[in-house]
Amino acid sequence: MTVLVFDDAGAASRAAADKIQAVVKEAVGQRGRAVLGLATGATPEKVYGYLVRLHTLGELSFHDVITYNLDEYYPIQPLDPKSYRSYMYRHLFSKVDLQPQRTHLLDGTVPEPFVDEHCAEYERWIAEDGGLDLQLLGIGRNGHIGFNEPSDRSVEEALALRTRIMELHPVTRADAAREFGSVEGVIPRALTMGIATILGAREILLLATGAHKAEAVKLGLTGPVTAKLPASLLQSVAPRVTWMLDQAAASDLDRTADTP
Ligand code: F6R
Repeated sequence: MTVLVFDDAGAASRAAADKIQAVVKEAVGQRGRAVLGLATGATPEKVYGYLVRLHTLGELSFHDVITYNLDEYYPIQPLDPKSYRSYMYRHLFSKVDLQPQRTHLLDGTVPEPFVDEHCAEYERWIAEDGGLDLQLLGIGRNGHIGFNEPSDRSVEEALALRTRIMELHPVTRADAAREFGSVEGVIPRALTMGIATILGAREILLLATGAHKAEAVKLGLTGPVTAKLPASLLQSVAPRVTWMLDQAAASDLDRTADTP
């Protein structure tokens, strides 16, 4: 895996936006479209800010971009300000020339008996669009990617996980209490792309900033490959993975990482 360490979160986010711009240009040039897997949460907010700026400067068009988000709370209405659909609208979709019908998020309003079919459909849509050119990821303090939470599964089982409904881990709920006002108020379930879905991307870019991510970053990069720390599963597709870190998130690593 490639590890790039930047002075601060702004520089790391800028580099992530530049990478996304390059992937979009290359994929659109080669195949007439680019398929991006996107993340939400605090970490990528600055990335979306930089992408909007590149768009405003006329340096990046999303006209031929198709997007698939990693996850969504369940159940939730799209207009709920805490939904990831509304997050994406606020930070990116409303500010660039993405075509609305090309932006995909898992649907927090699907009736429960249809959830499995909806998740399978999401996988089919990604495949029919030719797969993900790039998946942007954050990392949870517990090492989750998407909402693939730590588990006791075997590595083989974890690597085969597809899009599905999940119970959020206590650490994830504690962190989400920021947005929901209290831990008890956090919607306890979510729909998430699976590990196999994520690892199917042609390139994977994990962005982590802040000292609170340092332990998960160290374990994901240098610890054993285990479903107990889902980000460690990225090691199984190492040549396709780049970690972009700020100094704080990299602070537990031995300083053998590449510095740009
Ligand atoms: C969000 C997602 C999560 C977050 C992770 C980090 O779509 O899939 O895995 O990337 O929880 O969240 P922040 O960036 O808020 O620390």
